[in-house]
Amino acid sequence: MRYDRVVSGGNVVTPAGTFTGDIGIVGDKIAALGLSLDTTGAEVIDAAGHHVIPGVLDVHVHLALPFCGTTSADDYRTGTRAGARGGVTTLIDFAIPYAGESLSQAADNWMEKARGKALIDYTFHICITRYDEHKDQIRGMVDRGFTTFKEFMIYASEGWQSDDRALFGTLERMGEYGAMLLVHAESARVLDELIARHHTPALMKEYGARLHAITRPNFVEAEAIQRVVQWSEATGGQLYIVHMSTGEGADIIRAAQARGVPVIAETCVQYLVLDDSVFAREDGHLFACCPQLKKPGDVERLWQGLRTGEVSVISTDTCTFTREQKAMWEGDWTKIPMGMPGLETLLPLTYTRGVLGGRMTLEEMCVKLSTNPARIMGLYPRKGAIQVGADADLAIIHPRTTMTVSPTAMETNADWSPYEGWELAGFARTTLSRGEVIVDDYTVVGKEGRGVWLPRTTAGLGGSPEEPVAMRVSRGPLAPLRAADLVAAGAR
Ligand code: URP
Ligand code: ZN
Ligand code: ZN
Repeated sequence: MRYDRVVSGGNVVTPAGTFTGDIGIVGDKIAALGLSLDTTGAEVIDAAGHHVIPGVLDVHVHLALPFCGTTSADDYRTGTRAGARGGVTTLIDFAIPYAGESLSQAADNWMEKARGKALIDYTFHICITRYDEHKDQIRGMVDRGFTTFKEFMIYASEGWQSDDRALFGTLERMGEYGAMLLVHAESARVLDELIARHHTPALMKEYGARLHAITRPNFVEAEAIQRVVQWSEATGGQLYIVHMSTGEGADIIRAAQARGVPVIAETCVQYLVLDDSVFAREDGHLFACCPQLKKPGDVERLWQGLRTGEVSVISTDTCTFTREQKAMWEGDWTKIPMGMPGLETLLPLTYTRGVLGGRMTLEEMCVKLSTNPARIMGLYPRKGAIQVGADADLAIIHPRTTMTVSPTAMETNADWSPYEGWELAGFARTTLSRGEVIVDDYTVVGKEGRGVWLPRTTAGLGGSPEEPVAMRVSRGPLAPLRAADLVAAGAR
């Protein structure tokens, strides 16, 4: 067989196991996996000494989102370039209707944002912000290829908040159509009360950005997860909790899954590598995101949840704001634009802290970053795994070469990074999207606008929180990361 490209000699992670060998690509698809494929006439991409993993799917991203009185600073050009450099080959954004708009208009608006700019493939979750207006539009959106929906339990000030009636009714429809509802779970009334109690000049002077954490105790998230899980259990509608940040949340999901409730949970990498001690920093306000960073105990519980299965996906909730935008707070934490950059560092953080840190195997990382997101979001087997017939979306990473995180050297529009100065391995030396090299030697080379919209059906949607068996076999005792295991970037 003749191939257009052969990725040669890498440590290739597939659902059937990990092997050292070749991937043959014809057009935009993986055509063969083998030990010594025929390279006659093919472009050979040398992957010797590298891991070759499925392209990452970041299924929780906000690009050019009008939010908190400003617009998030990464658009489809910078956001998708940042993703590619971090081995991300597919993203899912959230199309949110502007005032008075339909679900279909929201999708059109987000299509327009992506047009001519996206370097990688994309689709959107459709946000239901006014249930009575939107509920009869859901079926039409499923027919149009949008099969995942989103409701927010907070954000009344943005005009996005859903009440229990909306959550319950939408979950009923999810069950009927075979679609899935994503939920931002925080308890609005209690949160608003805590914010109001603390919103005094004296407390703001005393505590500054720490009030962001003080006003969002863990029960704010836990109560909301518990409540919406109840609606999923009552209706049978498939539920997906986004950006879960608390240990209590993980406990609730674990118990719900054990009794057969169709609920899946995602966490974001920032909840795995940061905690709320950052708010004590002079620039602590930069770290304000929603839900906010929690305690070290929550961090540990979320890692455990990844291992034991109740946390199925790691995403970023990328919602970038520059220092200038963050400065809008002027000492009032309720005015901080909430969100952080993330696409570029998702894989490096998970690889360095997760795999090299001895918390998960390489194969388990691929399940949480690629295979599970693809399966749960209805993009599998086209995306999410290295196997014959799949899109040739690949990330080639050096096992140990590190780079120092520095905003000036990054593709994101952010002029700061939560991880500035961190030494991370796992940046993509090479990224392939549908067979095309879009990152070469750690540099973006793909053309903007080449990314395509990914229509979805409800087939396979929601996947199963159960992970593919082959991805679980290689757990063994892993040595924790030692500084000596890392090789500085210049030495590659
Ligand atoms: O801080 C965040 N997460 N900003 C984006 C909006 C959301 O709630 O996901
Ligand atoms: Zn949210
Ligand atoms: Zn979000």
